[in-house]
Amino acid sequence: MATPISIVLILTISCLLVSTLDVYARKQASSDVAEEATSFLHDICGGREKVMKLQLYVQDLRIGHPNATVVEVAKAAGVTDNSPYQFGSVHVLDDLVTEGPSINSRKLGRIQGLTTNADLSTFGIAMNLNFFFTEGWYAGSTLSILGRNQVMDSQRELPVVGGTGVFRYARGYAIQTSYSFDPATNYAVLEYNIYTTYNARFNEDVEIARM
Ligand SMILES: *[C@@H]1O[C@H](CO)[C@@H](O)[C@H](O)[C@H]1NC(C)=O
Repeated sequence: MATPISIVLILTISCLLVSTLDVYARKQASSDVAEEATSFLHDICGGREKVMKLQLYVQDLRIGHPNATVVEVAKAAGVTDNSPYQFGSVHVLDDLVTEGPSINSRKLGRIQGLTTNADLSTFGIAMNLNFFFTEGWYAGSTLSILGRNQVMDSQRELPVVGGTGVFRYARGYAIQTSYSFDPATNYAVLEYNIYTTYNARFNEDVEIARM
């Protein structure tokens, strides 16, 4: 005869197993945008969507670094060069993302996208960036960051607005801080502490759009 405590234990272990398998299934399915499967245990466990914290480091080899991963692609003639905040300057970056602050630490992926100097009166950057995980548990998934970065602040809060794979429907925020900067080579390391939902599943009740 199963005691109540052993039933709770069995359910807890089953739910943990299901959510682990969820992440694994997302990882496998991320390239073919698979439909979600449902199961009895999924429904029992309920609330599959969870929040995770990720700590990541971005190796920002800026313009002037011999191996720069940031380029300037546009600026406003007669404005950007006369602006103390380089208003109108647009950069594209493809920075290495690592698990630890060292550039030799484990590689997790890249952060890719656009940054625009979009503030006339301070360094205020409009960011449009995607974390692209290529290694580890989230390989194949992406996480999208979109927002305003006032880079002279010691901590910058940026919105997490979506993602793919494990991070489908993601929402949350990222705290960006400057971990180190070497002015001799223009090499910056940025720390990101990201709090985001993950593992959200399609509602069963998906409507097909009428056109
Ligand atoms: C640039 O890349 C080369 C080749 O990987 C490497 O040997 C060199 O140390 C790098 N330069 C800097 C300043 O990191």
